[in-house]
Amino acid sequence: MKLLVTGGAGFIGSAVVRHAIRSGHSVVNLDKLTYAGSLSNVAEVSGSPAHAFEQADICDRAALDRILAAHRPDAIMHLAAESHVDRSIDGPAAFIETNITGTYTMLEAARAYWTHSGKPAAFRFHHISTDEVFGSLGPKGKFTEDTPYDPRSPYSASKAASDHLVRAWHETYGLPVVLTNCSNNYGPYHFPEKLIPVVILKALAGAPIPIYGKGDNIRDWLYVEDHADALLLVVQKGTVGRSYNIGGENEATNLDLVRKICAILDDKRPGNAPYAEQITFVTDRPGHDQRYAIEPSRIRNELGWRPSVTLDEGLEKTVQWFLDNEDWWRALQSRDGVGQRLGSGG
Ligand SMILES: NC(=O)c1ccc[n+]([C@@H]2O[C@H](COP(=O)([O-])OP(=O)(O)OC[C@H]3O[C@@H](n4cnc5c(N)ncnc54)[C@H](O)[C@@H]3O)[C@@H](O)[C@H]2O)c1
Repeated sequence: MKLLVTGGAGFIGSAVVRHAIRSGHSVVNLDKLTYAGSLSNVAEVSGSPAHAFEQADICDRAALDRILAAHRPDAIMHLAAESHVDRSIDGPAAFIETNITGTYTMLEAARAYWTHSGKPAAFRFHHISTDEVFGSLGPKGKFTEDTPYDPRSPYSASKAASDHLVRAWHETYGLPVVLTNCSNNYGPYHFPEKLIPVVILKALAGAPIPIYGKGDNIRDWLYVEDHADALLLVVQKGTVGRSYNIGGENEATNLDLVRKICAILDDKRPGNAPYAEQITFVTDRPGHDQRYAIEPSRIRNELGWRPSVTLDEGLEKTVQWFLDNEDWWRALQSRDGVGQRLGSGG
């Protein structure tokens, strides 16, 4: 297939681009290169004739029309977004603009392209979203695809709005869409402002390792390369108009997660004292969702997909990758806001 991947220079998008090219597809990688995007994430494939890069904003309709006409993709995988909850608390405007207006602009450009191409049945608009649209769980229960939406942060509200637009474009205009809502990703190329890289890099720097609140918030961790594998399956085999929840089957409290990372580092890069001694509890994020958990039976039963790694295996690979790729993360640490406390609601 020829895939147009938006946000292909970001964390998950670049994993999709690398995986798609390794699997024999060709990719048009459309990315604005915001603070979160980096072409070093796709260096492994950027010399390949199967990879074309287009620097563009998903809110720029003329650019989208030009890129679609020039490359004529078989499917669009839409990942470009503002993605950091803490930044959405400090500055929601960019989230409304990119996640809502940007998705609307993508849908309209895709609809025009699909219509002018004779409405091919095989075309897909695959919208990549988050489990955060479902809100926060108590100690029991899991999110299914039918869980009512209940977003609670500017980020998750903007993603929920984009999901609604994608469903509406299917119902109203017949655009062949598929949606996925995934849990928290982690792995290689994870931008250094997100929890797992922050823990690794603060630990290595001998700095306090910040944990919000009591560290009892629970997330279901999904290894990014497993996620990329699931996304390529859904874009090819998913049923039109349907959404699929993608989880890692790996629930952990933030405190347990951080302790696991510290233990892996103690083993791989021993310091003078156990890294867990650097753990410091800090003021919680306002409106911090307590628990997310994915009920993964639809994608497992209909498409035969399951995650391939446990949390321990995925964390071990991730820590090793950060130890081996210091040049990559050092280059990103000077970017705007990275390393600072964001989203404290002050
Ligand atoms: N990271 C997670 O754990 C997670 C979980 C669930 C869902 N998601 C969703 O997956 C997608 C990718 O997330 P990520 O973690 O890779 O994000 P990311 O922040 O690492 O990457 C986003 C990419 O989008 C690009 N971008 C931002 N605004 C743009 C614009 N206006 N036009 C074009 N490109 C733009 C950025 O340059 C960057 O390369 C997002 O839609 C996000 O909501 C992420």
